[in-house]
Amino acid sequence: MDAIEMIKERRSVRKFKQEKVDRQTMTEIVELSRWAPSWGNFQVARYTLVDDRSVIEKLATDGVDGFVYNINTLKNAIGVAVLSFVKGKSGKLEGDDYATSKANVWEVFDAGIACQTFTLAAHAKGVGTCVMGVINDQSISEIVGLPEEETVAALIVYGYEDGEHAKPTPRKKVADILRFV
Ligand SMILES: Cc1cc2nc3c(=O)[nH]c(=O)nc-3n(C[C@H](O)[C@H](O)[C@H](O)COP(=O)(O)O)c2cc1C
Repeated sequence: MDAIEMIKERRSVRKFKQEKVDRQTMTEIVELSRWAPSWGNFQVARYTLVDDRSVIEKLATDGVDGFVYNINTLKNAIGVAVLSFVKGKSGKLEGDDYATSKANVWEVFDAGIACQTFTLAAHAKGVGTCVMGVINDQSISEIVGLPEEETVAALIVYGYEDGEHAKPTPRKKVADILRFV
């Protein structure tokens, strides 16, 4: 798939066929996600893939703070990637002090890049995704048994899209977001 096409045609997918995405395909998507850049190349992003229906149900019940829109998406999702990151590393060159004024913001930044790389890699493999930020981090950590050193960045629901590809969502004009100095 052409990179420009991949960027422009990835959409948030919220309706999924009831068809499994095999673990080999998901492993290949994570293999591609590893190529995301990261602060100091620390590679703090982690992917916990949930394809057990009962655990997905639990994420729907306890992991999205009762947000009905997300509950409905989770109800028909085939899988959910819990994207997490190892805390307290990005932003520090040596020792305990943050090397930049942005302190620990870089770990979230790293997770964001990893997230987009994952969604684009999935799209290239024909797998639809939807990032979820309306979530309950603590509850999700407990449901999937996240290691103490990690925290949840986002949920990424995945599966094969059902029906027509989701319609493009509006974008700001280039003139509204670009300035040259
Ligand atoms: C950080 C982040 C959090 C999001 N949270 C949610 C969410 O909780 N539920 C949802 O349905 N979509 C969520 N989205 C998807 C956005 O609504 C979507 O990306 C945006 O409307 C643009 O549409 P597109 O992804 O199809 O291009 C989130 C996206 C991002 C990047």
